[in-house]
Amino acid sequence: MITHFKSLVNQAMRRTPGSPSFFKKKPPRFKAVWPQIDEVEGFLVKGQEKWLFDTARSLPRGASILEIGGFKGRSTTCLAYGCVNTDKQVFTIDKFKGVYADVADREDLKKVFDVDFFHHWQDNLKRNGLQDYAIPYIGDSRVIGREWTTPIHMLFIDGSHLFEDVMDDFSIFYPHVVPNGIVALHDVTPNWPGPYEAWHQHVKNELINVGKVTTLAYGQKPRAG
Ligand SMILES: C[S@@+](CC[C@H](N)C(=O)[O-])C[C@H]1O[C@@H](n2cnc3c(N)ncnc32)[C@H](O)[C@@H]1O
Repeated sequence: MITHFKSLVNQAMRRTPGSPSFFKKKPPRFKAVWPQIDEVEGFLVKGQEKWLFDTARSLPRGASILEIGGFKGRSTTCLAYGCVNTDKQVFTIDKFKGVYADVADREDLKKVFDVDFFHHWQDNLKRNGLQDYAIPYIGDSRVIGREWTTPIHMLFIDGSHLFEDVMDDFSIFYPHVVPNGIVALHDVTPNWPGPYEAWHQHVKNELINVGKVTTLAYGQKPRAG
């Protein structure tokens, strides 16, 4: 597991409550950052970028966002832009390399994943000046999950698309989601039976205020949940 300590230190120094610039500036407007977001390769369906940005922006001060499956940083960039000029942060878990069982029979996707793409994620965040808002954890989500302790205000699951893996990601990290926290699953569509069944058979039953942005399904953890 690799965390970027330099980035954490920079982040703490630049965003210390009480320092002159803290909270003076607002996060940017989505319209202003959309052209930069749209330069980042990824798998989101149009409209989901704005939902991720707006939801990150709506979270309370000090909120932590956990994303499972960052790929080259499209969703990370949306979430991190929603944290700009705040003390909110995004944690991204990804193996950042390799073809896994969920895409093993997809020739088109095998080519995309069978390389080390961490430097793309990093470059995309850096180019947008977001490196202080997004912290990568490199490895398997279930392994990293065993040691996870940080309370989560928004959980975005877009890692392995196998049913058991989506359920593992949900079961491992949901206990860390704070009451009223947001949970979102990507690829909730019959084309991806794993997230689709996980959402319809289990995840949505745990949540309130559920909704969808095309293939992204979301809801809120109830207060007594
Ligand atoms: C569909 S992509 C994520 C797309 C990304 N959210 C975007 O905005 O384009 C799925 C990602 O999950 C990662 N992944 C798959 N299984 C994983 C696991 N068990 N642990 C960590 N990451 C995993 C893959 O490496 C891949 O980058």
